[in-house]
Amino acid sequence: MREALSDGVGIIGFGSIARDLIDILCAQDSPPAALFVLVRSGKQAATLAEARRQAAGRCAVSVVERVEDLLALRPGVVAECASHAAAAASGPAILRAGVDLVVASIGALADPRTELTLRQAAQDGRAQLVLPAGAIGGIDMLSAARLSGLTTVTYTGCKPPRAWAGTPAEAACDLEALSEPVVFFTGTARKAATDYPRNANVAAMLALAGLGLDATIVRLVADPEATGNTHQFSVRSNAVDFDMSLTAKPSPRNPRTSASTAYSMARAVLNRFDAIVI
Ligand SMILES: NC(=O)c1ccc[n+]([C@@H]2O[C@H](COP(=O)([O-])OP(=O)(O)OC[C@H]3O[C@@H](n4cnc5c(N)ncnc54)[C@H](O)[C@@H]3O)[C@@H](O)[C@H]2O)c1
Repeated sequence: MREALSDGVGIIGFGSIARDLIDILCAQDSPPAALFVLVRSGKQAATLAEARRQAAGRCAVSVVERVEDLLALRPGVVAECASHAAAAASGPAILRAGVDLVVASIGALADPRTELTLRQAAQDGRAQLVLPAGAIGGIDMLSAARLSGLTTVTYTGCKPPRAWAGTPAEAACDLEALSEPVVFFTGTARKAATDYPRNANVAAMLALAGLGLDATIVRLVADPEATGNTHQFSVRSNAVDFDMSLTAKPSPRNPRTSASTAYSMARAVLNRFDAIVI
């Protein structure tokens, strides 16, 4: 059984993933002693009331508006659940302070300067930047297979046409008139992360775990028969070949976010405290 989480858990953001994460952490047999939530300026009072209501006395809750105030509370680990900009802006100070950081906004690392800054800060602080699998899975075997030599990593993201509205897919095909699946984008993970930022986290995760942003191939599909979002990827390597397919269930708080992402974040946070890590 897990030891009581005597250290508090820092959380950046109070949107759908952060709030799902709070639900999951508070539901544990041994929940964290405290949650420290970092929000944007002007949101402290409203967030405190809502977060306390949500935690229902299972964890103490503090809400702060500056990363310095978050660090003063001495969190055992911080989970970033806010935005790519938040990961880039707050991440270095947290890591330099020696606090491990679990990031949801993995697409932030598609920017080489951000990756370098976070890497350097983690080295300086002797802390770890933890990249959870997020909406996808199979990252353990992909990163293990990388050690054997990867041949190809190909990702296909498939969504109903309406889910691609407001993206460059609109220029590539007539989304509303589709009668069969259409592959409207084939390119590198780097271009996919840039042109389709809502897919940036998955593309960046696969690239960082595997062949990198310029050698990981991404295909994006609009399928009029699709009822949800499907992530499929194929790995060919010297140690193992495998194919993964995951059908996301939407977060009840935000249908655009996979419910599994908050569980993946929770697993990464809880693993920082467990004696046996799976
Ligand atoms: N890794 C994955 O597979 C995966 C999957 C889905 C989403 N994400 C990423 O996770 C992040 C959160 O997603 P979400 O669905 O919860 O979004 P959301 O819009 O529901 O919530 C984000 C919250 O963060 C707050 N925020 C933004 N910048 C902030 C800052 N600098 N400081 C403090 N708070 C800030 C916003 O006000 C908002 O309340 C996004 O970057 C998203 O791209 C990752």
